[in-house]
Amino acid sequence: MKQDQGAGRDGRATQEPIVLEVRGLSKRFVSHEAEVHAVEGISLSVRRGEFLTIVGPSGCGKSTILSMIAGFEPPDAGEIMTEGRPVTGPSPERVMVFQDLGLFPWLTVEGNVRFGLERTGLAPAEIDRRVRTYLDLVHLWENRGSLMHQLSGGMKQRVSLARALAMEPKFLLMDEPFSSLDSHTRERLQGELQELWEKTWCTFVFVTHGLKEAVALGDRVILLSARPGRIQREIRVDLPRPRSVDDAPVLKIAKELRAGISSWVDPVTRAEESL
Ligand SMILES: Nc1ncnc2c1ncn2[C@@H]1O[C@H](COP(=O)(O)OP(=O)(O)OP(=O)(O)O)[C@@H](O)[C@H]1O
Ligand SMILES: [Mg+2]
Repeated sequence: MKQDQGAGRDGRATQEPIVLEVRGLSKRFVSHEAEVHAVEGISLSVRRGEFLTIVGPSGCGKSTILSMIAGFEPPDAGEIMTEGRPVTGPSPERVMVFQDLGLFPWLTVEGNVRFGLERTGLAPAEIDRRVRTYLDLVHLWENRGSLMHQLSGGMKQRVSLARALAMEPKFLLMDEPFSSLDSHTRERLQGELQELWEKTWCTFVFVTHGLKEAVALGDRVILLSARPGRIQREIRVDLPRPRSVDDAPVLKIAKELRAGISSWVDPVTRAEESL
């Protein structure tokens, strides 16, 4: 974990090197029944320590893009480079947080965070340090002995974040991690995630179908079209942090973005985004 980098937090990454570069990314899925053109011609660059959000309607290929960056799926066309090297498969440098967290119900909070670390070959003292550090960061050290069924949805999400951050990845890839939470818990975690980001200097790529969430969290927002997902707009959000989805400047930007989208017919998003 790196702190006190000297730069101000707002727009902290503008002077940093580009560490993730995606060029001309396209993906089709072919099954015996049909062919789905998921994403088309996606190009983007992300600077070290940046918080990038990608927003778009359901089915536009957001998870597909993250999976390709994580190295789980190969692209059909285009390339992905991290720190100048092509992505050819998964790596502990790129950790993904999924919507359905994938926590082990038979392990405690601590056991879930420890699990991946114990498979890295790290020294036991370093594993202990990380478990303590990251459970403290997500305010779950006191709950370290609890099992998953004893936790609220928000607490489980924090375990999942601690488990991912404990790997001290260079990139944290998050796929709609808060979408199953109630709005109150979601807003609290949106605030906590910004605090975690400020403390870790990790590069965050966060996918959501909520425009307000994308604007509240991102240094930069990439807006995708409906399938096949293409980049429709890209905006920088220069607002002070921590931000909330209810902040007037956040709502203003989200509204402007929404006004530019004519083809966004996503009942889920419409229902959630009362702009
Ligand atoms: N492994 C796969 N095999 C076949 N089709 C797939 C596969 N993965 C994704 N797709 C299809 O590709 C399209 C994009 O899917 P993807 O999950 O990336 O969208 P999304 O933007 O993440 O949607 P949501 O907001 O609902 O999570 C969808 O039509 C989906 O059915
Ligand atoms: Mg998805």
